[in-house]
Amino acid sequence: RFDRALRPTGLAEYIGQPEVSEQLDIFVSAARARSEALDHVLIFGPPGLGKTTLAHVIANEMGVGFRQTSGPVLERPGDLAALLTNLERNDVLFIDEIHRLSPVVEEVLYPALEDYQIDIVIGEGPAARSIKLDLPPFTLVGATTRAGALTSPLRDRFGIVQRLEFYSQADLSHIVTRSAGILEIAIEPAGAAEIARRSRGTPRVANRLLRRVRDYAEVRADGRIDGDTAARAMDMLRVDDNGFDVMDRKLLGALVEKFDGGPVGVESLAAAIGEARETIEDVIEPYLIQQGFMMRTPRGRLATAATYRHYGLPVPDTGRTAA
Ligand code: ADE
Repeated sequence: RFDRALRPTGLAEYIGQPEVSEQLDIFVSAARARSEALDHVLIFGPPGLGKTTLAHVIANEMGVGFRQTSGPVLERPGDLAALLTNLERNDVLFIDEIHRLSPVVEEVLYPALEDYQIDIVIGEGPAARSIKLDLPPFTLVGATTRAGALTSPLRDRFGIVQRLEFYSQADLSHIVTRSAGILEIAIEPAGAAEIARRSRGTPRVANRLLRRVRDYAEVRADGRIDGDTAARAMDMLRVDDNGFDVMDRKLLGALVEKFDGGPVGVESLAAAIGEARETIEDVIEPYLIQQGFMMRTPRGRLATAATYRHYGLPVPDTGRTAA
């Protein structure tokens, strides 16, 4: 895919997430020096922050092979067994959306993670027999948007747990500049900064906006992305000054206008804007919450003073709205 060209291959090229980078550097170096498989790694965080990228980086840094699948794809125990029995010593097996593994497949995974063994059943009915197969040592890298959705026996089997945070604007600027270099796009620092500022703290969004802003710059300007061209392009794309897109504004708009600022349950919000509850929880609201435009409380979602200001509305003085 397209994104492959932009993906950093090693930790040296990996921008941002300093704590994650530093820790992985140490754990990988130690495992390599002992010629062991790296302990199993769980990566969690909102979509687009580079969970898959980090899994590739880990395999590259370990100097081992990389296999990739995802929770919903592994329908039966045999699907996972086939992957596991084809691994080579110390390989990385990446399972995206690992919270969506079916319980029967998860059962196969436990002994594989713990003892590098699997139990497989051969035959059917009275003739069925269970045999144990030894696996080579390997590293499972699991990724999920919701660490809370993992069963605790599964979570407990990861020796390394890393949470990806939204990127700073400086790091996103750096990523946009690097991507522009690879794609041979002429960009000025102010252009990169403007794209970074409106990218929801998310490299995937930054790289997508970079491509669309380039289109705009080529058709409506001289092809060079300066700060002004970037701003005009993103206004045209309806990505506002806070980096909120149409969905963000729909959600905040519903919260303020239809539900009087809340508290309102996520199901009601989902129905009001015609989105799936999971999309709101995993994709839309994490950034809004991080930016202080929305709160998640036991009674439901709540607008903040910043939300009202964003809409140019007076901040209600009900005593329940957060500062
Ligand atoms: N592209 C996407 N994420 C990146 C990162 N963390 N570092 C460098 N390039 C990236």
